[in-house]
Amino acid sequence: MRGFSLTLTGLLAATSGAAAASQLQQPLGVSATDSRPNIILTLTDDQDLLMDSINNMPELNHHLREKGTFYRNHFVTTAICCLSRASLLTGRLAHNTNITDVNPPYGEGVSKFNTLYTGKIFNAHTVDNYNTPFINGFNASDFLLDPYTYSYLNATFQRNHDVPVSYEGQYSTDVLVDKSLGFLHDAVHEASPFFLTIAPLAPHSNVQSNGPIDPQSPLKITAPPAAARHQHLFPDAQVPRTLNFNPDELNDSNIEHNDHFYRQRLRALQPNDILDNTYIVYTSDNGYHLSQHRLQAGKECGFEEDIRVPFFIRGPGVAANHTEKAVTTHIDFAPTLFEMAGLPLRSDFDGVPMPLHHVVQGPGEKARHEHVTVEFWGIAIPESGSLDAEIPPTYAVRIHSTDYDLYYSVWCSNEHQLYDLKTDPYELNNLYPDPTGLQTETTILGYPVTQVINRLDALLLVLKSYQGFDAFYYHQKKVSYSRCEYGYLVDDRSHLSGWY
Ligand SMILES: *[C@@H]1O[C@H](CO)[C@@H](O)[C@H](O)[C@H]1NC(C)=O
Ligand SMILES: *[C@@H]1O[C@H](CO)[C@@H](O)[C@H](O)[C@H]1NC(C)=O
Ligand SMILES: *[C@@H]1O[C@H](CO)[C@@H](O)[C@H](O)[C@H]1NC(C)=O
Ligand SMILES: *[C@@H]1O[C@H](CO)[C@@H](O)[C@H](O)[C@H]1NC(C)=O
Ligand SMILES: *[C@@H]1O[C@H](CO)[C@@H](O)[C@H](O)[C@H]1NC(C)=O
Repeated sequence: MRGFSLTLTGLLAATSGAAAASQLQQPLGVSATDSRPNIILTLTDDQDLLMDSINNMPELNHHLREKGTFYRNHFVTTAICCLSRASLLTGRLAHNTNITDVNPPYGEGVSKFNTLYTGKIFNAHTVDNYNTPFINGFNASDFLLDPYTYSYLNATFQRNHDVPVSYEGQYSTDVLVDKSLGFLHDAVHEASPFFLTIAPLAPHSNVQSNGPIDPQSPLKITAPPAAARHQHLFPDAQVPRTLNFNPDELNDSNIEHNDHFYRQRLRALQPNDILDNTYIVYTSDNGYHLSQHRLQAGKECGFEEDIRVPFFIRGPGVAANHTEKAVTTHIDFAPTLFEMAGLPLRSDFDGVPMPLHHVVQGPGEKARHEHVTVEFWGIAIPESGSLDAEIPPTYAVRIHSTDYDLYYSVWCSNEHQLYDLKTDPYELNNLYPDPTGLQTETTILGYPVTQVINRLDALLLVLKSYQGFDAFYYHQKKVSYSRCEYGYLVDDRSHLSGWY
């Protein structure tokens, strides 16, 4: 959108609750001649949906859930930060953004992303290269810089074209709060509407750094520290003991470590609070797993824990206290943003606008897509405990509807996973037939599993192409005649192409 477009790595927080509330009572960026809305996007880092984090955020529930719409079936299309942020903000799948890793050569980070946007920094945006060139496309910005992006108590920020500033000893999220309020304060005095992205580090794990990141030496990754005033919260909280939580595989000290990690994540989320009088969107770049599926702290997988994220919208015409069940994804956000701003949709969007202004009911609900394309590229990094089994690049589809609920993935090792979440919501029983032919008797919706897999393979191919179905269909062989025959012999199809 034209006008006052802001990007910053700040957070509106309960620490400054009173100040925040009074800011918000003023009309933001309202002008007599310009009725376009303001938009604030809060983008947390690694926040899960399935481990109850949102139920431990009273301010979020009060300001967004009760006053806006909760998209209960919202999925990311890739469960890793930079790729997911690129998809969120471009409306395109990772393999269509040309950014498929957090590091070169597949993720040139900043240098590739110049004309788009970033809130929190890509891994390649550092204290050494922040000005070669500066990120442009924003009227004002204040970015966290590597290698200090993930240091809660030693953040380095870089504002507009200024030199980087170290905030050693201050809690990163609190610094973001002040910066966000500063931007808001300036914004309310502008006549034009604004788009403000607030991308805090929380509840990402802490990565200690006192120098350049050395790819050769392992990173020191620990649970996020809490702000001093939040350290006492949630003393008894535990990772929910769902069926896919596997205590048999992890020893007691490991489990206690992960429960501690869990409490620290909840504590790190406490400063978050969001404001009023505009479209306010709250989400995360990816979900998180912590002991489920025998995995240590981390993301990057296609499991529900990793791909489902909180998604809330509050604003003009958006249903209050409403839970939307339609399947929505991160690539639907940019088209939604365009719709909010009254802009025509771009032709290169892979996503479609989310249901925003009204409750879709009845047959209309059926018209929305049920699929989510899920992909992972790059090198997965374990964030606590021992090294996990390697998480390979994966290409997958998640299909969610009232009648069926499936996850199907192909790994770069050509191993496969197929889960029927109708009967197996915790994804414990891989239905993909093993080479011995076991499980081929399985059926899904009455169809043999092998037949379902053929359809899923075809669907994966369709969804892989640029802009989904239509481009894929366009490139298929067409039925055509090379000559007219007045009959058809099964062993002579030379006059027909495109037939099997
Ligand atoms: C923001 O940047 C755009 C593009 O450079 C410019 O047209 C606009 O006037 C700027 N807005 C403000 C409020 O400075
Ligand atoms: C994609 O990225 C590669 C590696 O950075 C680069 O060489 C190539 O030009 C990019 N292609 C497009 C279409 O941006
Ligand atoms: C904190 O960050 C600054 C750079 O911004 C660095 O010089 C300093 O060594 C860091 N301190 C610690 C304790 O890592
Ligand atoms: C528990 O498991 C962790 C991680 O696998 C391991 O490092 C640790 O030595 C184990 N502790 C005991 C007491 O077995
Ligand atoms: C929100 O809806 C739930 C039921 O769906 C209801 O119990 C609750 O009172 C509502 N809250 C508000 C603030 O309207």
